[in-house]
Amino acid sequence: MTLGPSFYGVGLGPGDPGYVTVRARDVLATADRLVHFCRKGQRGNARTIADHIIGADPAREIALVYPVTTEAPVADAAYAGPIAAFYAESAALLAAEAEAGRVVAILCEGDPFFYGSLMHLWRRLAPRFPFEVIPGISGMSGAWTLAEAPITWGDDVLTVLPGTLPEQDLARRLKDTDAAVVMKLGRNLPKVRRALEAAGLVGRAIYVERATMAAQKILPLAEKTDDEAPYFSMILVPGEGRRL
Ligand SMILES: C[S@@+](CC[C@H](N)C(=O)[O-])C[C@H]1O[C@@H](n2cnc3c(N)ncnc32)[C@H](O)[C@@H]1O
Repeated sequence: MTLGPSFYGVGLGPGDPGYVTVRARDVLATADRLVHFCRKGQRGNARTIADHIIGADPAREIALVYPVTTEAPVADAAYAGPIAAFYAESAALLAAEAEAGRVVAILCEGDPFFYGSLMHLWRRLAPRFPFEVIPGISGMSGAWTLAEAPITWGDDVLTVLPGTLPEQDLARRLKDTDAAVVMKLGRNLPKVRRALEAAGLVGRAIYVERATMAAQKILPLAEKTDDEAPYFSMILVPGEGRRL
């Protein structure tokens, strides 16, 4: 494949390298720079998925290390200030790569336009450079497929909620939907569980951790007795709509 645009936002799917698209594989094989987001001292999840396909490649890799992650609430100036500066500096760094004639692939777990960090770079760079985004299978799609839990039937309404929302907002929205996916679980699990209880949905809720990955865990939420959940976990509430 001959690469046209300066930038690619590459969706790599939920974890299993078998779910990486042909187009994403082509870009991984040929881009001059492979960019990934990560926490300090850790390899990013998207890069870990790419490792299964192309292995480590230090000459092409650029790691963008978040200055803060979950230490401060997103609404705090302590989070918003450093993270906005980080995205602006990262965009400037990558713009210089593109200006030097290099093709830059930014790796994304799942689908890039679904709660993806890439979006903050894309909105800064796409007005200035040709920028192609390659869709990926989202984590929630991987989760409900591996859980064998069709998420919407008939006219079911699906609500996708970040577990970071306040408990009352979660409960209100859960009461008002047919099916739900609660993302960004991690330390929000006890709060999300209470909101599901308030909405009368614990009995239908499925806990999914690291869907499609080697360490995947799937179990009814009612059977999960501890409150430990990694960042890569979510809760599914499948709809109960029309069965024909
Ligand atoms: C910042 S969002 C990124 C979503 C991603 N762009 C996607 O399309 O799925 C991160 C959240 O996605 C969810 N997630 C993504 N992939 C997952 C997986 N394989 N297993 C469980 N949860 C996953 C988790 O709830 C995690 O907190």
